[in-house]
Amino acid sequence: MVAELNKIANEASAPAGTLVDVDSVTLQYKTSSLLVTATESVSFSVEQSDRFVLLGPSGCGKSTLLKAIGGYMKPTSGSIRVAGRPVVRPGADRMMVFQEFDQLPPWKTVLENVMFPLLATGRMRRREAEERARHYIDKVKLTRAIDSYPHTLSGGMKQRVAIARGMAMQPDVLLMDEPFAALDALTRRQMQDELLQLWDETRFTVIFVTHSIAEAIKISNRILLLSPHPGRVKAEVRNVDAAKSDTTEAAALEKRIHDLLFSEAVEEHSHVQG
Ligand SMILES: Nc1ncnc2c1ncn2[C@@H]1O[C@H](COP(=O)(O)OP(=O)(O)OP(=O)(O)O)[C@@H](O)[C@H]1O
Ligand SMILES: [Mg+2]
Repeated sequence: MVAELNKIANEASAPAGTLVDVDSVTLQYKTSSLLVTATESVSFSVEQSDRFVLLGPSGCGKSTLLKAIGGYMKPTSGSIRVAGRPVVRPGADRMMVFQEFDQLPPWKTVLENVMFPLLATGRMRRREAEERARHYIDKVKLTRAIDSYPHTLSGGMKQRVAIARGMAMQPDVLLMDEPFAALDALTRRQMQDELLQLWDETRFTVIFVTHSIAEAIKISNRILLLSPHPGRVKAEVRNVDAAKSDTTEAAALEKRIHDLLFSEAVEEHSHVQG
């Protein structure tokens, strides 16, 4: 009977189709002199093919949450599951793209950079890895730069390499931590468009961190709003259809998100329809 009830409770906490299940996760940094609580009891679930955005002000724990999903940090309490498996360490099922342009080993060409994790996991022979890498390099429009070294590339091109490297692994979920934040406004828009195009082709699942409301609305289908430090869930918002991202409906949603982010109340798990 108890086992039966537990089973029902577990099913209730992770509905069918859930790919990433973050359940009451508190994340803390402990140094010799202080304890910093980055997030407090954060829960959300990401479905297959979601473009799920974590949105909140600087210091609210977005990067920390992403690191925990990536398996680089262990929750103080709560649990994280990806495809039903508890996250205990980094894994090829969760690839990260960071904000910094220097995430690529400089001594490897574009092709070698994208091939590297494919070979490192030992899942593929060289020829197969190269074929896969070329495919994704083409998808991010870098075929002409395939033999170039990172220092000869622009910031946007380096981020494309990092995206191709992540996608080539065909992870369950791609984790992107403000990947376009250091780009100029025009390149940033272009990269957002390209990411959406890529998503349209392969329908991968992505968790995308940003502190830009406009970027969240452009990229996502769902947005989790986090309160300032320590991060708690303020609300979850279902975005307007991507095709309507330039409409008055989107403008109204942008205002609503702004108001929610700057309101005092923490509306845990209130769902706002876009
Ligand atoms: N290595 C660390 N040691 C101690 N505290 C840390 C460490 N990294 C982050 N923090 C603290 O944890 C909190 C959350 O940091 P985090 O980097 O996750 O925020 P963020 O939402 O990603 O911010 P930003 O938008 O500026 O990138 C902050 O108060 C930060 O100072
Ligand atoms: Mg951050």
